Amino acid sequence: MSVRRLAPDEVQPASFAFTPDNLAWAQKTVGNYPSERKASAVIPLLWRAQEQHAYWLPKAAIEYIADMLDMPYIRVFEVATFYTMFQLQPVGKKAHVQVCGTTPCMLRGAEALIKVCKSRIHHEPFHLSDDGDFSWEEVECAGACVNAPMIQVFSDTYEDLTPESLEKVLDAFARGEKPAPGPQNGRHGAEPEGGALTLRDLPYDAAAPGGAMVAEKKVAERPVADTGPSAEALALAAREEADIKAKLATLAADATPEQKADAVGIRPQGLPAAREAKADKLQQVKGIGPVNEGKLNALGIFHFDQIAALTREEIRWVGTYLSFPGRIDREEWTVQAKALAAGLPSVKE
Ligand code: FES
Repeated sequence: MSVRRLAPDEVQPASFAFTPDNLAWAQKTVGNYPSERKASAVIPLLWRAQEQHAYWLPKAAIEYIADMLDMPYIRVFEVATFYTMFQLQPVGKKAHVQVCGTTPCMLRGAEALIKVCKSRIHHEPFHLSDDGDFSWEEVECAGACVNAPMIQVFSDTYEDLTPESLEKVLDAFARGEKPAPGPQNGRHGAEPEGGALTLRDLPYDAAAPGGAMVAEKKVAERPVADTGPSAEALALAAREEADIKAKLATLAADATPEQKADAVGIRPQGLPAAREAKADKLQQVKGIGPVNEGKLNALGIFHFDQIAALTREEIRWVGTYLSFPGRIDREEWTVQAKALAAGLPSVKE
């Protein structure tokens, strides 16, 4: 926990008063409490004063609030100096970065975020950057541990950060933009990374506030053969299996899996690595286990959309290479993968 003191006299303004709008708001807020309990409004009033005064609280503002609430100055100073949400000295004009350094965030990389702040803003906390646009400090838990590591900038939190994504957030502030708050790794809220792990038969609309359940609609749209393969899939698989077996019968007995696959289809063009270093969990496709997931990754197939886009020749190649011609059709991998790529749940139990 940092030492929290008022800013030196030379930066303190001589006086503070709410703007007319803020004064009207403050009077209404104080009126929400019984008159003998109006001190209960101290935190919202301090926050509004901070917002009005470039996101830091001068001594004059603290005393102004104390007078308004008939509180001894020391009581309001106690509140303002206790909570790290209140800044007691000038902060960056564009962003004051509060990096959570408590255990969950520390274990998930807060130290690397602090390094970014030190190199990019100032080596010491509570110092302004050369242009006066940024400042930073380390704070205790900000209540977003499930999306650790995180920072808070004024009223917003930026979560699931890496040094690279923190740089991007700071770049946006530097351009005068307000980056979208919340997780910075693409996940929705605090849902599991890579998709839902429970209640997968009740799909939700990830775009809806709170991931609202829209089960009936999504189930109706769901193209996955969760009641078993279709008759067409079974017929196609049988045809493919017979055709491939006939072709393989002409090869030498010691032909390698690759030679067999080349004889019946075309090798898919894989990726050199998973996009953004984050492969999909291919085992969510019913029929793909850990061994075949590894083999698919070795072929450069890391994502559901890659499986969904396999052509007929590529399906023949992959199925033969994995030593089960026909099975990809029988288990409808491409149909399953298409649904998973669209964010629908796996049919795999
Ligand atoms: S530990 Fe960082 S938000 Fe709670």
